[in-house]
Amino acid sequence: MESPQHHKAQSGHFKPVGPLTGRIAVPGDKSISHRALIFSTLAVGKSEINGLLEGEDVLATAAALRAMGAKIEKTGDTWTVHGVGVGGLMQPETALDMGNSGTSTRLLMGLIASHDISATFIGDASLSGRPMGRVIDPLGLMGADIQARMQDDKACLPLTVRGICPAIPLEYRLPVASAQVKSAILLAGLNTPGITRVIEPTPTRDHSETMLKGFGADLSVEVDDNGVRTISLVGEAELKPQSIKVPGDPSSAAFPVVAALLIPESDIVVENIGINPTRAGLFGVLQKMGGDIVFENERRVGGEPVADIHVRHSDLKGIDVPANIAPSMIDEFPILFIAAALATGTTTTSGLHELRVKESDRLSQMAEGLISLGANVTEKEDGLVIQGSDGKPLSGGGNKPAIKTALDHRIAMSFAVAGLTSKAGVTVDDMSPVETSFPGFRDIFLGLSAQ
Ligand code: S3P
Repeated sequence: MESPQHHKAQSGHFKPVGPLTGRIAVPGDKSISHRALIFSTLAVGKSEINGLLEGEDVLATAAALRAMGAKIEKTGDTWTVHGVGVGGLMQPETALDMGNSGTSTRLLMGLIASHDISATFIGDASLSGRPMGRVIDPLGLMGADIQARMQDDKACLPLTVRGICPAIPLEYRLPVASAQVKSAILLAGLNTPGITRVIEPTPTRDHSETMLKGFGADLSVEVDDNGVRTISLVGEAELKPQSIKVPGDPSSAAFPVVAALLIPESDIVVENIGINPTRAGLFGVLQKMGGDIVFENERRVGGEPVADIHVRHSDLKGIDVPANIAPSMIDEFPILFIAAALATGTTTTSGLHELRVKESDRLSQMAEGLISLGANVTEKEDGLVIQGSDGKPLSGGGNKPAIKTALDHRIAMSFAVAGLTSKAGVTVDDMSPVETSFPGFRDIFLGLSAQ
C-alpha cells in the first residue's frame, strides 16, 4: 500500500449545489476499525469483521499487524484476522509506516511496549510533527525503552519502542483527555501481570473498554461522584475471537449532516451511524443551534448504540459551546466551525488546546481558511469565536487562493462542504488526505445532489 506521504497533492473545486436528498451510508467507524483489527490480532483464532473502514489509516494498522505475525485477509465484504494471542507478536523486520495515523501509532506503541520485540515507527510530515511524549511517559513507567527524535523539545516520530516482558503494571491518571493514551496503556496492560489502571478525569471515547470486555478481558470501570472514571484491567489476558460489525463513523457522517443543515430544502438520512455519547457531541450542539436532526430506528450493534440520522435544512443560530463537551466531539470542530460561520449570531468555543496537535493545528488552519472566504473569525489560544453570516453564503470564488489543508483530511472535507454552500465555489489545495478516513467522500455528495 502506498502511504500518504508519497501522495501527489490533488486539488478539488467545490461549487454550490441544490438541495441534498436521499439515504446514504458512510464508511465504518475509524476508531472501532483500528481496535477491531488490533484486538482480533490478540485473540487466539479467527475473528471476522464486517463494515471495516478501508481507509489508509486503518490499512496502516493492518499492515503493521501483519508485519508482527497476524494473518489478515478480505473475502467478499468480510475481513478475517487469524490472531496470534496476547504475548504472541513477532519482531517486525522493517520499520512500521504509520502514514498519517496518530491512532495507529499510539495504540501500536502500547501494544509493543509489553512484548519482547522492538519496532521503529515512521510517518508522513503531519504525523512526524505530532507529540508522542504523552504515550512515551506512561509506557516508559511500565518499563519500555522508547527513543524518539526531538523537535522543539517535543518527542516525535521517527521513534523506536523496545518492549519489555514482563512489563510493570501501572496506575496512571491521564494528564490530557485522550482515548489514544488510555488505549495505549490498556493495550500494554493486556500482556502485563497484575492490574493496570487508567484514571480518566474527563471521559473520552470508550470503544476500547467496551470491545475488550466483548473479547473476554477482565476489565471493570468505576465512575465516582465527580464523573472520574477508573478503568482496571487484569493482565495476562486471554482474548477470544469475535465477530464484529463496525457501525458507520459519526465523524464522517458529520460532513453530510452539516451540509444538509446548511443547503436549503435538503432532507437526508445517514444510515447506521454510531451514536455513542462519548462520540456524538456534535449532533447535540447542532440541535441546540436549531438543527433539525432526529435519531431514527435506534438500536444496539455489537455493544454500540446506532441510529439512522434524519437531517433537514434548518436556520442555525450561534451558541456558546461548553468546554466540557469537547472530548465527545473532538474531531468535529472543523465542520462545526463551517456551520457556525453560516449561522445567525455568535458561536464561541473554548478548551480546545488539543485541536492544535491533531493532523494539523486545526484552530489556525480553520481560522485562516474561513477568514479567506470572508467569514468573521477571531482565533484565541484555546478556541475560535465566529460571528455568523446570518445564513448568507460565504463569498468563495475563483480569485481566492486555494484553502490550505496541511495534510489534514478533516480540514479538506470541511472546506469542501463550505464550497457546496458558498456563492462562487471553494478550491481546496489537496483532497488526497481524505482517503485516510472517508473513501468515497466525493461520490456520496454527488449522489445526494443528483437526486
Ligand atoms: C481517537 C482518539 C482521538 C481522536 C482520534 C481517534 C481514538 O484522539 O482525535 O481521531 O481512536 O482513540 P486523542 O486521543 O488524541 O484525543
